[in-house]
Amino acid sequence: MKKATVLVVDDEVGIVEGLQDWLEINGHSVYTASSGIKALEVLAEQSIDIMITDLRMPGMGGLELLTKVPDVREGICSIVLTGHGDMSNAIKALNNGAVAYMLKPVDLDELGIHLGRCIKQVEMKRQLVLNLRYLESIIESMADALIVISPDGTVQTVNRLACDMLEYSEEEMVGKKLENFASMHSIFGENGFEDLLKNGFLSSFDTTIVSKNDRETPVLLSGSVHRDLTEEVTGVVLVAKDITDYKRSQTILREREAQLVHTGRLTAMGEMAAGIAHELNQPLAVIRIWSQSLGNDVGRGSVSAERVTEATKEIDQQMKRATTIITHMRAFARGESDEPPEATDLAVPANEALLFFQEQFRIHEIELDMQIGENLPEVSLHAGRFEQVVVNLLSNARHAVDKKRSEDSSFQKKIALRLYASDDNKWVILEVADNGIGMSTHDRDRCLEPFFTTKEVGQGTGLGLHIIRGIVQEMNGRIHVDSQLGKGATFKIQLPAA
Ligand SMILES: Nc1ncnc2c1ncn2[C@@H]1O[C@H](COP(=O)(O)OP(=O)(O)OP(=O)(O)O)[C@@H](O)[C@H]1O
Ligand SMILES: [Mg+2]
Repeated sequence: MKKATVLVVDDEVGIVEGLQDWLEINGHSVYTASSGIKALEVLAEQSIDIMITDLRMPGMGGLELLTKVPDVREGICSIVLTGHGDMSNAIKALNNGAVAYMLKPVDLDELGIHLGRCIKQVEMKRQLVLNLRYLESIIESMADALIVISPDGTVQTVNRLACDMLEYSEEEMVGKKLENFASMHSIFGENGFEDLLKNGFLSSFDTTIVSKNDRETPVLLSGSVHRDLTEEVTGVVLVAKDITDYKRSQTILREREAQLVHTGRLTAMGEMAAGIAHELNQPLAVIRIWSQSLGNDVGRGSVSAERVTEATKEIDQQMKRATTIITHMRAFARGESDEPPEATDLAVPANEALLFFQEQFRIHEIELDMQIGENLPEVSLHAGRFEQVVVNLLSNARHAVDKKRSEDSSFQKKIALRLYASDDNKWVILEVADNGIGMSTHDRDRCLEPFFTTKEVGQGTGLGLHIIRGIVQEMNGRIHVDSQLGKGATFKIQLPAA
C-alpha cells in the first residue's frame, strides 16, 4: 500500500494512540487531534491526505467537522468512526463527504482496505488538480483568445486575451451569457452558432469582435464542440486569433501594389511619349498651315468670310483631335475606371495602344507585323485595361529585342501582334510574339509572378505581367507563355466573347 499523511481525530486517547501506532507501523505519517476545532487547526497547517474521525466528540462533532473541512483543505478523503446504534449519523456523514464509515471497535484489516481506497482516490484527485493546472497554464499562455461556452451560450471559461479583447474581467463574464458581452449575431452571423452546434465545428472565418468600449478587433474565429461520455454536447470552444496586424499589413501591401501599378502605367506612358509627340505633331502641323494661309490672305487683303469659316472649322477639328489624344493619355495614366465593363471590340483599344508604339518602333528600327481582325466578337471589359495589356506586352517585347540587338548588332528586331477570333467565335485571342532574347524554362514558369523581373534594379518592377494576369483572370480568360532562351517569346491571351 502507498503511504499517506493521516489525521486521527477522537476525544478517546486510547483509540487515538492505538490507531496512531498501527498507522505508523504501516509507514504512514500521522497527526492527531482530540476535538473538531483542533482538527481544523491541523488541517489548516499540514498537508493531510486522509482524515479518520469519530462522530461523537464534545464541542464540534464529526458531522460539523466534515462540513467545515472543504473550507480549509481541498481533496481530503474522510473515514468516520461510529458506535453501534448511530447509523443515522453515519449516513449523514456519507452525505457530508465521508467516503466510508466504520463501527467501533475498529477492525484494522477493514481499516487497511478503506485506507487503500482512500489513497487511490487522493492520488486521482491530485492528478486531476495537476491536469487542471496544466490545462489552465496552456489556456493562459495561448496567443489567441479562448472562450468556452455551454450550448445555451453561458460563459464557462475565458482566458486573459479574451478578457483583454472584450474589456471585461473573468469574474464579470463566467456564469453569464456571452450575449451580454458580445453580440452573437455580429460574431457568428445568421445561424452561425446553430450551425456550429449542429456540425460540431466551425472552420476559421473572418469576423469582428466589439469590446465593452466599442473597440473593434478583426479576428479569425474557429470553434468546436466538446461532448460528454454519452456524446451529449456540453460546451463550445471558441478560439479567436487577433488579425489586426495582418489586416494592416494587407492594406499597406495593397496600397503599395496600387502605387506600383500606377508607376508602371506612368513608365508605359514614358514608352509611348515618342508616339504621343508624333500624334500631336500632326494636328499642330495642320493648324499651322491654316493659320499661316489665313495670315497670308489677310496680308494680301483678300480674306473672304467663307475662307475664315473654312479655316476655323478645320482648326477646330484638329484641336478636337489633339484634345482627344490628351484626354486619352490622361485617362490611361489615371488607370482604373469606375464605370462597369462594356461590350468592346478589342480592335479599338489594340489600335489605340499601337498608335503610340508605332513611332517608337520606327525609331528603334523594329519591324512590326500587325494583323488586327475585323468584326471580332465583342468582349465585356474596360477598353483602357485591355490597352494596358497590349502596352505591357509590347513594352516587354521591345526590351527583349533591344537586348538581343545589344548582343548582336546585325540582328533584325521583329515584333508581331495578332488579334483574331477562335474558330468557334467564343474567344478573342491576342498574340504578341518577338524574336528577342527569350526566357529560360525557369524564368518562363515564374514570369507571371508579382515582382519577378530580370531587369536591372530601377528598370522594371516585375509587375507588368502580374497586372496582365490579374486582368485576364478577372475576365475568366487564359494566358499562355511560350518561350525559348535566345529564340524569342510568344504571349497568347484568350478572352471569352461577351
Ligand atoms: N517578351 C519577353 N521576352 C523575354 N523575357 C520576357 C518577356 N516578357 C517578360 N519577360 C520576362 O518576364 C519578366 C517579368 O516581366 P514583367 O513585365 O512582369 O516585369 P518587367 O518587365 O521586368 O518590369 P515592368 O513590366 O514592371 O517594368 C521580365 O523581367 C523578363 O525577364
Ligand atoms: Mg514588363
